[in-house]
Amino acid sequence: MKKNGYLWLCLILVLFSSTFILSADGAKNISVMPLPLKTETGNGQFRLDEKFVVSVSNNASDRLCSAASRALRRISGKTGLFFQQDYVRTGEASENASLKIIVERTGKIKLHEDESYTLTIEPGGISLKAVTDLGALHGLETLVQLVDKDKDGYLLPALKIEDAPRFAWRGLMIDACRHFMPVEMIKRNIDAMAAVKLNVFHWHLSEDQGFRVESKTFPKLTGLGSDGLFYTQSEIKDIIKYAEDRGISVVPEFDIPGHSTAWFAGYPELASAPGPYKVERKWGVFDPVFDPTNEETYKFFDAFFKEMSELFPNEYMHIGGDENNGKDWKKNEKIQEYMKAHNIPDAHALQAYFNKRILEILTKYNKKMIGWDEILHPDMPKNIIIQSWRGVKSLKESAQKGYQALLSNGYYIDLCYSTATHYLNDPLPENLNLSDDEKKFILGGEATMWAELVSPENVDSRIWPRTAAIAERFWSAQNVKDVRDMYRRLPAISRELEDVGALHLKNRGSMIRRLIGYDDNSALLTLLGVIEPVKEYSRHSQGKSYNSYSPLTRVVDIAVPDADDARNFGFAVDDFLAGKVELEKEITTWLQCWKDNKAKLLLLIDKNPVLKEIEPLSNSLSDIAELGMDAMKQIKAHNKASQDRISIALQKIKKAQEPAGQAELANLSAIEKLIKKSGE
Ligand code: ACM
Repeated sequence: MKKNGYLWLCLILVLFSSTFILSADGAKNISVMPLPLKTETGNGQFRLDEKFVVSVSNNASDRLCSAASRALRRISGKTGLFFQQDYVRTGEASENASLKIIVERTGKIKLHEDESYTLTIEPGGISLKAVTDLGALHGLETLVQLVDKDKDGYLLPALKIEDAPRFAWRGLMIDACRHFMPVEMIKRNIDAMAAVKLNVFHWHLSEDQGFRVESKTFPKLTGLGSDGLFYTQSEIKDIIKYAEDRGISVVPEFDIPGHSTAWFAGYPELASAPGPYKVERKWGVFDPVFDPTNEETYKFFDAFFKEMSELFPNEYMHIGGDENNGKDWKKNEKIQEYMKAHNIPDAHALQAYFNKRILEILTKYNKKMIGWDEILHPDMPKNIIIQSWRGVKSLKESAQKGYQALLSNGYYIDLCYSTATHYLNDPLPENLNLSDDEKKFILGGEATMWAELVSPENVDSRIWPRTAAIAERFWSAQNVKDVRDMYRRLPAISRELEDVGALHLKNRGSMIRRLIGYDDNSALLTLLGVIEPVKEYSRHSQGKSYNSYSPLTRVVDIAVPDADDARNFGFAVDDFLAGKVELEKEITTWLQCWKDNKAKLLLLIDKNPVLKEIEPLSNSLSDIAELGMDAMKQIKAHNKASQDRISIALQKIKKAQEPAGQAELANLSAIEKLIKKSGE
């Protein structure tokens, strides 16, 4: 080639390759969650119209065709466009397709399967390429989230995304025992998991308060241990298929040897104390525990896990193992003698003996054992997985000793912490100082939805949208941790989750109507915008004695763990104090609204006795809003408030921290900042 020709070729290559511009900020303009690994922005956009057609490669699985069809319907639903295509099938001509999906093979529902994908959107068409159909499923979720609009219609921005997960295990655990969670609840949450690229549904199926799986071998497990609330085997198969169709594996948990009262309602002879036993109604840690020195226990588990291994195809079986207090072992002379005779020094070692016997059974049925971090013990072989929940110490120790591990500590969504708290909790914390080889033992993490204080009606509002941010932590690069940007994208994903069936937003309306009928709910909504349920497990120690049939319908059950108005007000205050003086009006409007809300809400409280308990919060909100307004006036006038005035105001803030109805105000720290500023 002549020199000139070569230069021309280079120029043409540069022109073509610059359709996409790699920019670190590429992802900043889009509202996708989790954020992709690599986003290159392009020029222009693909305009959506009724001619939009999707094609899949001929080797596409039924799973991919169904997922593509669902995506088509979701885009149609968002845009109101009457697409001509009814369903996405293999073998249909692809030349004119607007979206071409090409996969190399069908993926296995298995840890470490390839989940990567490349999505290219150009004005002339879209391509989604993946090694497996599982990667393509993720790409479809990204695509649906990217649908945007302008005055001329609906569009997808030109871009190129190359994406793959950071961690192989990205889970959500749902406790279906403390409160039974019906099949529809499980399915809609599986859809929501798929929307944010989670891939492991950990199903907590046995507890003191209920045994939730039909066993044909041991029918008394549900016959006497479930109050009739359990999943039949055909429902379980249906749910597993539903999950696998969405790229999600199902890991069942049968919690042993503790947390096991419900098992003993039907089979008391396997317990360490004589019983009799009834399904537990209260919450807490209880004494009933399997007798690990009784050979009948292992015969029972052999038959039980044989049946469950056939029912649950996944390679993992979770055996729980948490919070065995060992009291019934201590009280049982036969068990104490056994321990002496076999040189078993303590309850932890006895539990390790039990776990080893269970591991033999699971191995026989081709299952790998996973358990909460209590199963970590020097006697245990290295082929078990440790789920760290009590702290990161066990995570570090597991990785250093050569056990695979995942992190749940910091992802306890039942504790009602903010989205940001969970978001900044990394499965591989920097300060663990693990070597690169040790890091390889960390498989990922799991959010845990324990169900003492949730019902099928409000559980979605505890899981979503916070778990979308946790999903981003598990999927996206470690340095994706801009909290403001996460919160910028959270409302969009929250609405998307609603589209796939999550009820976190919808059920709020009906829960409010239950309390106040058709009365004007605006004053209650104003309060709900700034209150949160109390954190951790302090609801149990605040005057109410909760059990499995307590109402979960009160204001605290409608309040969400990350109150939007309180958080947005906090951001506005931070920005204002950092120099964005134009936010003064917004802040003052908020404060005025809260100040005036007391009288409006009182009208509702007087009519609806169930609201009486939150009156102190409403009063405090009004009082502290007034303090905030005073502070704003001082700041605006450049007056320095006296130290006396400041300290009286701060005392009032302290008083306003007192919960009422097991809820608390979430906007206090922002108002405190204003008060402090007014004294500078
Ligand atoms: C647990 O939270 N007891 C695992």
